[in-house]
Amino acid sequence: MRRMVLLEAIEKRLLEELNPKVRLVLETGRYLIDGGGKRLRPLITMLSCGMCGGDPEGALPLGVGLEYIHAASLLHDDVVDGAKRRRGRDSANLIFGNEVAVLTGDYMYAKALHLFSTYGNMEMIRTVSQAVMEMAEAQVLELSKVGELITEEEYFQIIDGKTGVLFGACVAVGGMAGGCSDREQLYEVGLRMGRAFQLIDDLLDYAGDPEKTGKPVGNDLREGKTTYPLLSVLGSLDRERVERLLGSVEPSEEEIESLRREVLSLGGDVRTKERAVEELKRAKELLGSFPENSYKEEILRLMDFVAFREL
Ligand code: FPP
Ligand code: MG
Repeated sequence: MRRMVLLEAIEKRLLEELNPKVRLVLETGRYLIDGGGKRLRPLITMLSCGMCGGDPEGALPLGVGLEYIHAASLLHDDVVDGAKRRRGRDSANLIFGNEVAVLTGDYMYAKALHLFSTYGNMEMIRTVSQAVMEMAEAQVLELSKVGELITEEEYFQIIDGKTGVLFGACVAVGGMAGGCSDREQLYEVGLRMGRAFQLIDDLLDYAGDPEKTGKPVGNDLREGKTTYPLLSVLGSLDRERVERLLGSVEPSEEEIESLRREVLSLGGDVRTKERAVEELKRAKELLGSFPENSYKEEILRLMDFVAFREL
């Protein structure tokens, strides 16, 4: 019930704050926002604020800013990846062109900082800008490693930047808005939650149901990306074969499918799920020192949603 009330307020404010003077910026921004998404970032920002004793409504514009940053990163990411689909429909870059997609992303990112300068404080701005720096760095790292077999350390550096740091910023910012002072601990709760989210995302790329996720399986292998399901069973695979496939410019669909199935038969899916659950366990432990209330319970429920989601 509470989650639905918060989600309604988030949807309304997401549309209200997006008010550029130029129509095409509005159309492009709205296209991405209307495309859906789980709104996990504003939700955990508001819940973290409530858990720490604040009125979650107070963190609404901050959560909206964090969702705009997420939206901006997706607009840019689809240009970088040359993606044609996003959230089950044509990507914004395909419809409006790369130039408009990048510039609308710039607008949304700046709008987010504007919201933070109005409703937040310097420490929050520092937290958020640090997260965006790490996101951009991790994207460059990921790009530079396409076609290569990467180490587990590099993998976690990439997924922390891709998803973890922004979740970390959400929990930290929300908590600070609610009056908590333990920024580091809050940040780590979010970081681990984001890590778990991305691990499950990477698992779904191997074992998801395309009907539910809206995307075909095997994309990461197809794009030459090493993710956890593969890394977790690498010791039982022929390393040279894996490297050849990742590095090949146009791998055959048979090769991709056969490696994908082998990773699953070796238990790569189970191991990835276990690792995600481990990250969430640590996040839950860290939450132990924060007040017990209905907002915290809702955060714990969201963590289970992250681990058991199918899309
Ligand atoms: C999606 O990865 C990528 C991200 C969530 C992060 C993108 C970050 C940036 C472009 C840098 C930050 C930029 C701004 C403006 C804040 P993916 O390609 O693996 O996933 P996908 O299947 O959803 O495309
Ligand atoms: Mg992408």
